[in-house]
Amino acid sequence: MSSLQINHLLGLQHVSHEDITLILDSTDTFLEILERPIKKVPTLQGKTVVNLFFENSTRTRISFELAERRLSADVVNFSASTSSVSKGETLLDTALNIEAMKVDIVVMRHSAAGAGHFLSTRCTSRFINAGDGAHEHPTQALLDMCTLRQKHGTLDGLNVCIMGDIAHSRVARSNIYGLLTMGANVAVCGPSSMMPYELERLRVRIFTNVEEALQFSDAVNVLRIQLERDAGANFPTLREYHNSFGITRQRLDRLGRDITVLHPGPINRGVEIESEVADGAYSVILPQVTNGVAIRMAVLYLIGTKAE
Ligand code: NCD
Repeated sequence: MSSLQINHLLGLQHVSHEDITLILDSTDTFLEILERPIKKVPTLQGKTVVNLFFENSTRTRISFELAERRLSADVVNFSASTSSVSKGETLLDTALNIEAMKVDIVVMRHSAAGAGHFLSTRCTSRFINAGDGAHEHPTQALLDMCTLRQKHGTLDGLNVCIMGDIAHSRVARSNIYGLLTMGANVAVCGPSSMMPYELERLRVRIFTNVEEALQFSDAVNVLRIQLERDAGANFPTLREYHNSFGITRQRLDRLGRDITVLHPGPINRGVEIESEVADGAYSVILPQVTNGVAIRMAVLYLIGTKAE
């Protein structure tokens, strides 16, 4: 396999077509490993990975940890709530102290946009961003693209619409950058109050009508309303949001053709997505989770074994 141009995976905004293709192609090898009775390879033996999670996470954290263990890395987990951050230590001091224990890769989730970038310019470890505020979540977008490629064969020319709370979504941002780089046609749909300002500068179509957005789409990536980031202030009630923008079986059936439904999770059943859709034939939500482990194995492998 060839080598990545990037040393850290901080976001997809500046990642090349070649690098994304290399990660997606490498993922196939790791998906095959996940089908084996013994799902472990010695690829990262002797390497140490620290998972620095300053924000809550279920899927992403377990997915990274499984990926690391299946590559035989030594894994250390860090939770902000039980650490010296609560004693007033700065983020940089925490990172430098962890690094002084001879760590190779840091996987980090943080509520501040740019936290990974900040540390990567001051530390010597390799950084992988597992979500920074409302900025980027590159491995989520890579697993979304991997799932779309599995189903549709290529991303080139594919019509993908990201639905919902775009303004608060790091998943939306990383998907937009990655999909555009890979030649997809990208749209967003949601209430105007949830559209970020910078969208106009990107090559992204904007829909405020869900039926029109579905007409455009080969695939829709449905986002959760980020109530913890005050998203509820942008529309009257969750019920009204569901009526105007919820992805329902009826709306999809009316198209009279296939459409792929993705969701990064956690899903809020009955708000942005109806249960019947989440659990039904259009949905690739659980394959996304499986692909997530393989994508993270590929990223850890490519970043962790890249020469200086
Ligand atoms: C997303 C996140 O944390 O940004 N979830 C995830 O990583 N699987 C999206 C969300 O929280 O809604």
